[in-house]
Amino acid sequence: MANPTLLILAGDGIGPEVMGQVTRIIDWFGDKRGLAFDVEHDLVGGAAYDKHGTPLHDDTMARAMEVDAVLLGAVGGPKYDDLDFSVKPERGLLRLRKEMDLFSNLRPAQCFDALADFSSLKKHLIAGLDIMIVRELTSGVYFGEPRGIFEEGNERVGINTQRYTESEIGRVARSAFELARRRGNKVCSMEKANVMESGILWREVVQKVHDEDYPDVELSHMYADNGAMQLVRAPKQFDVILTDNLFGDILSDCAAMLTGSLGMLPSASLGAPNADGRPKALYEPVHGSAPDITGQGKANPIACILSFAMALRYSFDQGDEATRLEKAIEKVLADGARTADLMGEEGGTPISTSQMGDVILAALD
Ligand code: NAI
Ligand code: MG
Repeated sequence: MANPTLLILAGDGIGPEVMGQVTRIIDWFGDKRGLAFDVEHDLVGGAAYDKHGTPLHDDTMARAMEVDAVLLGAVGGPKYDDLDFSVKPERGLLRLRKEMDLFSNLRPAQCFDALADFSSLKKHLIAGLDIMIVRELTSGVYFGEPRGIFEEGNERVGINTQRYTESEIGRVARSAFELARRRGNKVCSMEKANVMESGILWREVVQKVHDEDYPDVELSHMYADNGAMQLVRAPKQFDVILTDNLFGDILSDCAAMLTGSLGMLPSASLGAPNADGRPKALYEPVHGSAPDITGQGKANPIACILSFAMALRYSFDQGDEATRLEKAIEKVLADGARTADLMGEEGGTPISTSQMGDVILAALD
């Protein structure tokens, strides 16, 4: 059987630095676990603009549609800040998300015990925390029409429209229920059905999908503002949180910071299944290109490595291998390995990006 295919788009800034460690880990799985991938590398963001005058070449887009999974580093940087909006590095990423129709954005918030002191919350509230936010990514108020700034009488009015169809709600709800079945079997859906019609429809559709096809999963509904309070009051009550694009943007950032550094946070964005049953998929760390530390060997590669672990689990059905990789990371953190972003108040000497790769590979061995 042919090897599964991976397209790596390392991008800009620290993107190539953290991705360099991921490729070492991909090689390890090929050598030691008989899990070989056909890996292709290409450009995205500013790097693609420098070569092609566009942040995503059509050929790259076409390959992204064909491969089994895309792994992306980060895009952007001060060098590109003055570019026209239409060719900004971020547009490359937005085009990928749009054309691959990646409607389900998975953002885990997981606490590694060795880093529990990093949280702004008390240790007992987050020790062992493991929640997953499923955010609808391709519709809602960031895309709804009408939108714009219009003249109205003698002043201007800014308009955006929250808009969700039943099928858009249904498909992301399904992805949350499927995910819950592989985890704690609980979904909490968040909207504002008390003040928004789109929220009323959201609640109805989620309940219907649940009753028809996922009655075994425990479902609750919560207003999103209460959800924000509960996330910082008692986050361990949640397993999977399902929410729309706007609330998901805010709630996922809020949940992320429960567990500490940006350098630790992975994500996955999934679309509709291909003919072989695999969803179209893009995996990337939550952080950006970090121009302030680029080229200094300071970047923490763990967010990007954990994104590859998500690829193993959600694109390649290798949950056990994903867990193996996550356990190796847990071990090196417990042993005290820290990049500069993970230095606590006790101080110590940080290790470099590649040294973090070294110790994770050693732990895997
Ligand atoms: P950022 O995430 O790049 O950096 C924020 C802070 O976190 C910086 O101090 C940085 O040094 C630190 N940081 C981020 N990742 C780290 C890592 N792996 N290890 C250690 N420290 C890390 O966000 P910022 O500064 O707002 O944006 C910088 C550039 O990145 C901009 O051009 C922005 O548009 C772009 N960006 C790209 C994203 C993407 O590719 N998905 C997401 C966010 C921003
Ligand atoms: Mg955000």
